[in-house]
Amino acid sequence: MAVKTIQWKNDRVVMLDQRLLPHKEAYRVCRDYQEVAQAIREMVIRGAPAIGVAAAMGVALGAAKAQVKTFDRDFERIFLNLSKTRPTAVNLFWALERMRKIYTVNRSRGVDVVKRLLKDEAQAIYKEDIAANKQFGKFGAQVLRNARHLMTHCNAGALATAGYGTALGVIRALKEAGREFDVFVNETRPFLQGARLTAWELKKEKIPATLITDSMAGYLMQMGKVDAVVVGCDRVAANGDVANKIGTYTIAVLAKRHGIPFYVAGPTSSIDLNCPSGKEIPIEQRDAKEVSHIFGKALAPKGIKVFNPAFDVTSQELISAIVTEKGVIQPPYQQNIRNHVGH
Ligand code: MRU
Repeated sequence: MAVKTIQWKNDRVVMLDQRLLPHKEAYRVCRDYQEVAQAIREMVIRGAPAIGVAAAMGVALGAAKAQVKTFDRDFERIFLNLSKTRPTAVNLFWALERMRKIYTVNRSRGVDVVKRLLKDEAQAIYKEDIAANKQFGKFGAQVLRNARHLMTHCNAGALATAGYGTALGVIRALKEAGREFDVFVNETRPFLQGARLTAWELKKEKIPATLITDSMAGYLMQMGKVDAVVVGCDRVAANGDVANKIGTYTIAVLAKRHGIPFYVAGPTSSIDLNCPSGKEIPIEQRDAKEVSHIFGKALAPKGIKVFNPAFDVTSQELISAIVTEKGVIQPPYQQNIRNHVGH
Protein backbone atom coordinates (compact mmCIF):
# COMPACT_ATOMS: atom_id res chain seq x y z
CA MET A 1 0.00 0.00 0.00
CA ALA A 2 1.62 3.21 -1.18
CA VAL A 3 -0.23 5.55 1.21
CA LYS A 4 1.93 6.44 4.22
CA THR A 5 -0.61 8.03 6.56
CA ILE A 6 1.69 8.30 9.57
CA GLN A 7 5.24 7.21 10.37
CA TRP A 8 7.73 7.43 13.19
CA LYS A 9 11.02 8.59 11.62
CA ASN A 10 14.20 9.58 13.49
CA ASP A 11 12.30 10.76 16.55
CA ARG A 12 9.81 12.72 14.48
CA VAL A 13 6.18 11.95 13.61
CA VAL A 14 5.59 12.36 9.88
CA MET A 15 2.01 12.59 8.55
CA LEU A 16 0.55 12.90 5.09
CA ASP A 17 -1.30 16.25 5.21
CA GLN A 18 -4.82 15.11 4.37
CA ARG A 19 -6.15 18.67 4.07
CA LEU A 20 -4.19 19.06 0.83
CA LEU A 21 -5.43 15.88 -0.86
CA PRO A 22 -6.21 15.01 -3.59
CA HIS A 23 -4.24 17.85 -5.20
CA LYS A 24 -1.00 17.65 -3.28
CA GLU A 25 0.84 14.85 -1.49
CA ALA A 26 2.81 16.72 1.16
CA TYR A 27 4.02 15.58 4.57
CA ARG A 28 3.84 17.40 7.90
CA VAL A 29 6.76 16.74 10.22
CA CYS A 30 5.90 16.99 13.94
CA ARG A 31 8.91 17.62 16.20
CA ASP A 32 7.07 17.69 19.52
CA TYR A 33 3.80 16.53 21.06
CA GLN A 34 2.20 19.98 20.71
CA GLU A 35 2.65 19.76 16.96
CA VAL A 36 1.06 16.31 16.95
CA ALA A 37 -1.90 17.63 18.98
CA GLN A 38 -2.29 20.56 16.60
CA ALA A 39 -2.19 18.23 13.57
CA ILE A 40 -4.98 16.11 15.07
CA ARG A 41 -7.10 19.18 15.89
CA GLU A 42 -6.64 20.69 12.43
CA MET A 43 -7.30 17.35 10.72
CA VAL A 44 -3.92 17.05 9.05
CA ILE A 45 -4.53 13.49 10.21
CA ARG A 46 -8.07 12.24 10.87
CA GLY A 47 -10.08 9.02 11.08
CA ALA A 48 -10.55 7.22 14.38
CA PRO A 49 -7.74 4.62 14.32
CA ALA A 50 -5.25 7.07 12.75
CA ILE A 51 -6.01 9.60 15.50
CA GLY A 52 -5.28 6.87 18.08
CA VAL A 53 -1.92 6.03 16.48
CA ALA A 54 -1.03 9.74 16.24
CA ALA A 55 -1.86 10.30 19.92
CA ALA A 56 0.29 7.31 20.95
CA MET A 57 3.21 8.61 18.87
CA GLY A 58 2.61 12.08 20.35
CA VAL A 59 3.01 10.68 23.86
CA ALA A 60 6.19 8.82 22.87
CA LEU A 61 7.58 11.98 21.25
CA GLY A 62 6.71 14.19 24.21
CA ALA A 63 8.18 11.70 26.69
CA ALA A 64 11.38 11.36 24.64
CA LYS A 65 11.96 15.11 25.00
CA ALA A 66 11.01 15.38 28.68
CA GLN A 67 13.71 16.02 31.30
CA VAL A 68 14.27 13.46 34.06
CA LYS A 69 13.54 16.04 36.78
CA THR A 70 10.14 17.04 35.43
CA PHE A 71 9.22 13.76 33.72
CA ASP A 72 6.07 12.94 35.70
CA ARG A 73 4.63 16.44 35.47
CA ASP A 74 5.46 16.58 31.76
CA PHE A 75 3.84 13.19 31.16
CA GLU A 76 0.56 14.44 32.65
CA ARG A 77 0.72 17.61 30.58
CA ILE A 78 1.34 15.66 27.37
CA PHE A 79 -1.47 13.26 28.19
CA LEU A 80 -3.96 16.06 28.95
CA ASN A 81 -3.03 18.07 25.89
CA LEU A 82 -3.50 15.13 23.50
CA SER A 83 -6.72 14.01 25.18
CA LYS A 84 -8.29 17.42 24.43
CA THR A 85 -7.79 17.30 20.67
CA ARG A 86 -10.93 15.55 19.42
CA PRO A 87 -13.69 14.12 21.63
CA THR A 88 -15.68 11.58 19.60
CA ALA A 89 -13.37 8.81 18.37
CA VAL A 90 -12.73 6.55 21.35
CA ASN A 91 -9.55 5.19 19.74
CA LEU A 92 -7.77 8.37 20.89
CA PHE A 93 -8.56 7.65 24.56
CA TRP A 94 -7.97 3.93 24.13
CA ALA A 95 -4.46 4.60 22.75
CA LEU A 96 -3.69 7.14 25.47
CA GLU A 97 -4.74 4.66 28.15
CA ARG A 98 -2.43 2.03 26.65
CA MET A 99 0.42 4.52 26.84
CA ARG A 100 -0.45 5.43 30.42
CA LYS A 101 -0.37 1.77 31.40
CA ILE A 102 3.18 1.43 30.05
CA TYR A 103 4.18 4.51 32.05
CA THR A 104 2.53 3.33 35.27
CA VAL A 105 3.72 -0.27 35.17
CA ASN A 106 7.34 0.64 34.29
CA ARG A 107 7.90 3.97 36.04
CA SER A 108 9.96 2.36 38.82
CA ARG A 109 12.44 1.10 36.18
CA GLY A 110 13.61 4.64 35.41
CA VAL A 111 12.88 7.36 32.87
CA ASP A 112 15.08 5.97 30.07
CA VAL A 113 13.34 2.59 30.20
CA VAL A 114 9.89 4.25 30.18
CA LYS A 115 10.87 6.43 27.20
CA ARG A 116 12.00 3.39 25.23
CA LEU A 117 8.93 1.34 26.12
CA LEU A 118 6.59 4.20 25.17
CA LYS A 119 8.17 4.30 21.71
CA ASP A 120 7.80 0.52 21.41
CA GLU A 121 4.16 0.72 22.46
CA ALA A 122 3.34 3.41 19.89
CA GLN A 123 4.91 1.19 17.22
CA ALA A 124 2.93 -1.80 18.50
CA ILE A 125 -0.34 0.17 18.28
CA TYR A 126 0.58 1.18 14.71
CA LYS A 127 1.36 -2.39 13.62
CA GLU A 128 -1.62 -3.94 15.40
CA ASP A 129 -3.95 -1.51 13.63
CA ILE A 130 -2.78 -2.57 10.18
CA ALA A 131 -3.02 -6.25 11.17
CA ALA A 132 -6.56 -5.74 12.56
CA ASN A 133 -7.69 -3.98 9.39
CA LYS A 134 -6.41 -6.81 7.21
CA GLN A 135 -8.06 -9.36 9.45
CA PHE A 136 -11.53 -7.83 9.47
CA GLY A 137 -11.15 -6.99 5.80
CA LYS A 138 -11.32 -10.74 5.21
CA PHE A 139 -14.37 -11.20 7.45
CA GLY A 140 -16.10 -8.27 5.80
CA ALA A 141 -15.33 -9.51 2.30
CA GLN A 142 -17.01 -12.79 3.20
CA VAL A 143 -20.12 -10.96 4.47
CA LEU A 144 -20.25 -8.81 1.33
CA ARG A 145 -19.31 -11.54 -1.15
CA ASN A 146 -22.56 -11.24 -3.13
CA ALA A 147 -22.83 -7.44 -3.19
CA ARG A 148 -22.09 -5.86 -6.56
CA HIS A 149 -22.91 -2.22 -5.84
CA LEU A 150 -21.62 -0.80 -2.58
CA MET A 151 -21.99 2.59 -0.95
CA THR A 152 -19.62 4.16 1.58
CA HIS A 153 -19.63 7.42 3.54
CA CYS A 154 -16.70 9.56 4.68
CA ASN A 155 -13.21 8.07 4.46
CA ALA A 156 -12.58 4.87 6.36
CA GLY A 157 -9.53 3.96 4.34
CA ALA A 158 -5.76 3.69 4.68
CA LEU A 159 -5.81 7.42 5.39
CA ALA A 160 -8.09 6.97 8.40
CA THR A 161 -5.95 4.20 9.92
CA ALA A 162 -2.32 3.16 10.15
CA GLY A 163 -2.91 1.54 6.75
CA TYR A 164 -5.35 -0.55 4.64
CA GLY A 165 -8.55 0.87 6.20
CA THR A 166 -11.74 -0.27 7.89
CA ALA A 167 -14.67 0.07 5.45
CA LEU A 168 -12.16 0.51 2.62
CA GLY A 169 -10.18 -2.39 4.10
CA VAL A 170 -13.23 -4.56 3.48
CA ILE A 171 -13.45 -3.13 -0.04
CA ARG A 172 -9.74 -3.79 -0.62
CA ALA A 173 -10.17 -7.36 0.62
CA LEU A 174 -13.09 -7.84 -1.78
CA LYS A 175 -10.83 -6.79 -4.63
CA GLU A 176 -8.04 -9.10 -3.43
CA ALA A 177 -10.60 -11.95 -3.36
CA GLY A 178 -11.25 -11.28 -7.06
CA ARG A 179 -14.84 -10.04 -6.65
CA GLU A 180 -16.44 -7.79 -9.26
CA PHE A 181 -18.08 -4.74 -7.73
CA ASP A 182 -18.28 -0.96 -7.77
CA VAL A 183 -18.59 1.68 -5.08
CA PHE A 184 -20.74 4.80 -4.71
CA VAL A 185 -18.71 7.36 -2.77
CA ASN A 186 -20.74 9.96 -0.84
CA GLU A 187 -18.90 13.28 -1.00
CA THR A 188 -19.44 13.79 2.78
CA ARG A 189 -20.15 17.46 3.35
CA PRO A 190 -18.81 19.59 4.87
CA PHE A 191 -15.20 18.33 5.07
CA LEU A 192 -15.51 16.29 1.87
CA GLN A 193 -13.62 13.21 3.09
CA GLY A 194 -15.50 11.15 0.48
CA ALA A 195 -14.80 13.38 -2.52
CA ARG A 196 -11.23 14.25 -1.57
CA LEU A 197 -9.93 11.14 0.21
CA THR A 198 -12.03 8.03 -0.53
CA ALA A 199 -12.24 8.88 -4.23
CA TRP A 200 -8.45 9.37 -4.22
CA GLU A 201 -7.78 6.04 -2.50
CA LEU A 202 -10.16 4.05 -4.71
CA LYS A 203 -8.74 5.63 -7.85
CA LYS A 204 -5.21 4.70 -6.74
CA GLU A 205 -6.40 1.11 -6.18
CA LYS A 206 -8.21 1.04 -9.56
CA ILE A 207 -11.48 0.10 -7.84
CA PRO A 208 -14.47 1.31 -9.91
CA ALA A 209 -16.01 4.22 -8.00
CA THR A 210 -18.68 6.85 -8.63
CA LEU A 211 -18.77 10.08 -6.67
CA ILE A 212 -22.19 11.41 -5.60
CA THR A 213 -23.36 14.24 -3.37
CA ASP A 214 -24.81 13.06 -0.07
CA SER A 215 -28.31 14.06 -1.13
CA MET A 216 -28.26 11.57 -4.03
CA ALA A 217 -27.99 8.46 -1.86
CA GLY A 218 -31.75 7.97 -1.38
CA TYR A 219 -32.48 8.29 -5.09
CA LEU A 220 -29.87 5.64 -5.93
CA MET A 221 -31.32 3.27 -3.34
CA GLN A 222 -34.84 3.86 -4.62
CA MET A 223 -33.61 2.98 -8.12
CA GLY A 224 -32.30 -0.36 -6.81
CA LYS A 225 -28.68 0.61 -7.51
CA VAL A 226 -27.20 -0.13 -4.07
CA ASP A 227 -26.79 -3.69 -2.68
CA ALA A 228 -25.07 -2.85 0.61
CA VAL A 229 -23.62 0.04 2.61
CA VAL A 230 -20.32 -0.26 4.49
CA VAL A 231 -18.95 2.46 6.77
CA GLY A 232 -16.34 2.84 9.52
CA CYS A 233 -16.97 3.95 13.09
CA ASP A 234 -15.62 6.42 15.62
CA ARG A 235 -17.19 4.84 18.67
CA VAL A 236 -19.42 1.81 19.19
CA ALA A 237 -21.48 1.98 22.39
CA ALA A 238 -22.17 -1.10 24.53
CA ASN A 239 -25.67 -1.44 23.04
CA GLY A 240 -24.40 -1.31 19.43
CA ASP A 241 -25.20 2.33 18.65
CA VAL A 242 -22.47 3.72 16.39
CA ALA A 243 -21.04 7.23 16.13
CA ASN A 244 -19.61 7.94 12.69
CA LYS A 245 -19.25 10.88 10.31
CA ILE A 246 -22.22 13.23 10.09
CA GLY A 247 -24.66 11.91 7.51
CA THR A 248 -24.13 8.24 8.37
CA TYR A 249 -27.45 8.11 10.25
CA THR A 250 -29.31 9.48 7.23
CA ILE A 251 -27.78 6.79 5.00
CA ALA A 252 -28.66 4.07 7.54
CA VAL A 253 -32.31 5.18 7.71
CA LEU A 254 -32.49 5.23 3.93
CA ALA A 255 -30.90 1.78 3.74
CA LYS A 256 -33.47 0.40 6.20
CA ARG A 257 -36.32 2.00 4.20
CA HIS A 258 -35.08 0.20 1.08
CA GLY A 259 -34.19 -3.13 2.69
CA ILE A 260 -30.45 -2.66 2.02
CA PRO A 261 -27.99 -4.16 4.54
CA PHE A 262 -25.94 -1.62 6.45
CA TYR A 263 -22.55 -2.80 7.78
CA VAL A 264 -20.08 -1.15 10.15
CA ALA A 265 -16.39 -2.12 10.10
CA GLY A 266 -13.89 -1.18 12.78
CA PRO A 267 -11.31 -2.52 15.21
CA THR A 268 -12.35 -3.60 18.72
CA SER A 269 -10.47 -0.50 19.93
CA SER A 270 -13.49 1.47 18.62
CA ILE A 271 -15.82 -0.32 21.05
CA ASP A 272 -16.51 1.60 24.26
CA LEU A 273 -18.22 -0.56 26.87
CA ASN A 274 -18.21 2.43 29.23
CA CYS A 275 -20.71 4.15 26.94
CA PRO A 276 -24.06 2.42 27.53
CA SER A 277 -25.65 3.88 24.39
CA GLY A 278 -25.15 6.46 21.65
CA LYS A 279 -26.70 9.15 23.86
CA GLU A 280 -23.55 9.23 25.99
CA ILE A 281 -21.15 9.62 23.05
CA PRO A 282 -19.74 13.18 22.93
CA ILE A 283 -20.33 14.72 19.52
CA GLU A 284 -17.67 17.14 18.32
CA GLN A 285 -18.85 20.54 17.10
CA ARG A 286 -16.50 22.11 14.58
CA ASP A 287 -15.84 25.56 13.19
CA ALA A 288 -18.76 27.24 11.41
CA LYS A 289 -16.46 28.11 8.52
CA GLU A 290 -16.34 24.43 7.46
CA VAL A 291 -20.01 24.86 6.49
CA SER A 292 -20.24 28.50 5.44
CA HIS A 293 -17.03 28.46 3.39
CA ILE A 294 -15.47 26.14 0.87
CA PHE A 295 -11.69 26.19 0.35
CA GLY A 296 -11.60 29.57 2.08
CA LYS A 297 -14.38 31.11 -0.05
CA ALA A 298 -17.69 32.13 1.50
CA LEU A 299 -20.70 30.32 0.01
CA ALA A 300 -23.32 31.72 2.40
CA PRO A 301 -24.26 35.25 3.48
CA LYS A 302 -21.98 36.72 6.14
CA GLY A 303 -23.32 36.29 9.68
CA ILE A 304 -25.65 33.35 8.91
CA LYS A 305 -26.05 31.02 11.90
CA VAL A 306 -24.31 27.67 11.33
CA PHE A 307 -24.63 24.25 12.97
CA ASN A 308 -21.67 21.92 12.39
CA PRO A 309 -21.70 18.63 14.31
CA ALA A 310 -18.90 16.43 12.94
CA PHE A 311 -20.59 13.12 13.80
CA ASP A 312 -24.00 11.54 14.32
CA VAL A 313 -25.22 8.38 15.99
CA THR A 314 -26.76 5.48 14.08
CA SER A 315 -28.99 3.49 16.37
CA GLN A 316 -28.23 -0.19 16.63
CA GLU A 317 -31.50 -1.40 15.09
CA LEU A 318 -30.40 0.10 11.76
CA ILE A 319 -27.15 -1.89 11.68
CA SER A 320 -27.07 -5.35 10.03
CA ALA A 321 -23.71 -6.39 11.52
CA ILE A 322 -20.49 -4.97 12.97
CA VAL A 323 -17.24 -6.43 11.63
CA THR A 324 -14.08 -6.38 13.77
CA GLU A 325 -10.73 -8.20 13.68
CA LYS A 326 -12.30 -10.86 15.92
CA GLY A 327 -15.18 -11.64 13.59
CA VAL A 328 -18.72 -10.51 12.81
CA ILE A 329 -21.06 -9.24 15.55
CA GLN A 330 -24.72 -9.85 14.79
CA PRO A 331 -27.71 -8.47 16.71
CA PRO A 332 -28.73 -8.55 19.53
CA TYR A 333 -25.74 -6.32 20.16
CA GLN A 334 -26.06 -5.70 23.90
CA GLN A 335 -25.04 -9.28 24.72
CA ASN A 336 -23.08 -10.13 21.58
CA ILE A 337 -20.69 -7.15 21.84
CA ARG A 338 -19.80 -8.14 25.42
CA ASN A 339 -19.18 -11.75 24.39
CA HIS A 340 -17.17 -10.58 21.39
CA VAL A 341 -14.70 -8.51 23.41
CA GLY A 342 -14.63 -11.08 26.21
CA HIS A 343 -16.27 -9.12 29.05
O1 MRU B 1 -13.76 13.77 11.17
P1 MRU B 1 -13.02 12.55 10.69
O2 MRU B 1 -12.57 12.68 9.28
O3 MRU B 1 -11.93 12.16 11.63
O4 MRU B 1 -14.12 11.42 10.72
C1 MRU B 1 -13.77 10.13 10.27
C2 MRU B 1 -14.91 9.19 10.25
O5 MRU B 1 -16.01 9.50 10.64
C3 MRU B 1 -14.61 7.80 9.80
O6 MRU B 1 -15.70 7.24 9.15
C4 MRU B 1 -14.28 6.96 11.05
O7 MRU B 1 -13.25 7.54 11.78
C5 MRU B 1 -13.93 5.57 10.73
S1 MRU B 1 -12.37 5.54 9.97
C6 MRU B 1 -11.65 4.11 9.97
